[in-house]
Amino acid sequence: MTDEKYCLGIESTAHTFGCGIVTFDGKILANAKESVTTTEGGLIPNEVAKHHREVKDKVLQAALQQAGIKLEDISLISYSRGPGLTPEILGVGQQFAHELARKLNVPLVGANHCVAHLTIGDLIAGTKDAVYLYVSGPNTQVIARAGNRFRIFGETLDTGLGNMLDKFARDAGLGFPGGPKIEQLALSGKYIELPYAVKGMDVSFSGILTKAKKLLKEGVPVQDLCHSLQETCFAMLAEVAERAMAHTGKKQLVLIGGVAANKRLGAMLDAMCKARGGSFHAVPLAYSGDQGVMIAWQGILQYKAGEQRTPEQADIAPYERTDEVIVTWIKAE
Ligand code: ATP
Ligand code: FE2
Repeated sequence: MTDEKYCLGIESTAHTFGCGIVTFDGKILANAKESVTTTEGGLIPNEVAKHHREVKDKVLQAALQQAGIKLEDISLISYSRGPGLTPEILGVGQQFAHELARKLNVPLVGANHCVAHLTIGDLIAGTKDAVYLYVSGPNTQVIARAGNRFRIFGETLDTGLGNMLDKFARDAGLGFPGGPKIEQLALSGKYIELPYAVKGMDVSFSGILTKAKKLLKEGVPVQDLCHSLQETCFAMLAEVAERAMAHTGKKQLVLIGGVAANKRLGAMLDAMCKARGGSFHAVPLAYSGDQGVMIAWQGILQYKAGEQRTPEQADIAPYERTDEVIVTWIKAE
């Protein structure tokens, strides 16, 4: 046995309960998770919390098995403090972290879920001080660090891009999730004009959705609409991401969130970055969706910067925004 140190990260903010195990120097050893899935409708918070309580021990065992270590080998526990769907859902992870930290007598760190999405992006992509484009179901944000905070430079004024694509797909009878199906159909479609909605550094998708749905009813071929939705919305994202890179002077762009799986989006951003002498990095799905690995890594960063709490101090922060977190783990230049 070496004196390697392991952090257990516990994710419990939304549909996924995850346990990740990462060594203090950033080797990912386990990424175990169980998610609530629905065929239609949204998530019911009570049921999500119940699901997480039911699977938590199983997910922890799966993570330990993947990592090939024993529970007693864990030397730090990190949990997602927020933001979360409801306090009850956050409470499942918080309580579990509290119990395990007491049992093992190890320190505890509380991580911000959204910040963890960014820092795992850096670990996986090997980037430092990048501009981050975070595009998931509910979120669409352009983020970059300024001093000791991650600042939101621009965001959607209404729905997230993933949710917008899912809504269009539902109307077009393509099923859920819509993003991958739209990507497929877009390959054989041709371009037709849709409203382009960039306002300063912000974007808006609801007008585009309304127009696309109207054209669909009027009989415009679905593949043409898929193609045009992608071209229009992705161009909008490329525009605000480029402006953020120009403003901040940062050279790297990291794409995270479920929509990061889209090849066309990646190609457009890659071309934009190359044209300005920068580099583009898409984070693979395993680490761009919700999971415990990012919570473990974020916990390690905070712990190394001198942060820790006792099990009794394990609180939750259901509404903590990305820009409220003080970045203690990077020395401000
Ligand atoms: P968050 O992590 O911000 O809470 P989430 O977990 O709901 O969000 P993700 O799992 O990150 O969201 O992303 C899901 C979204 O990604 C869905 O809206 C889905 O349609 C979209 N998506 C997945 N694959 C693709 C693709 N190839 N092209 C476009 N969109 C995609
Ligand atoms: Fe997330």
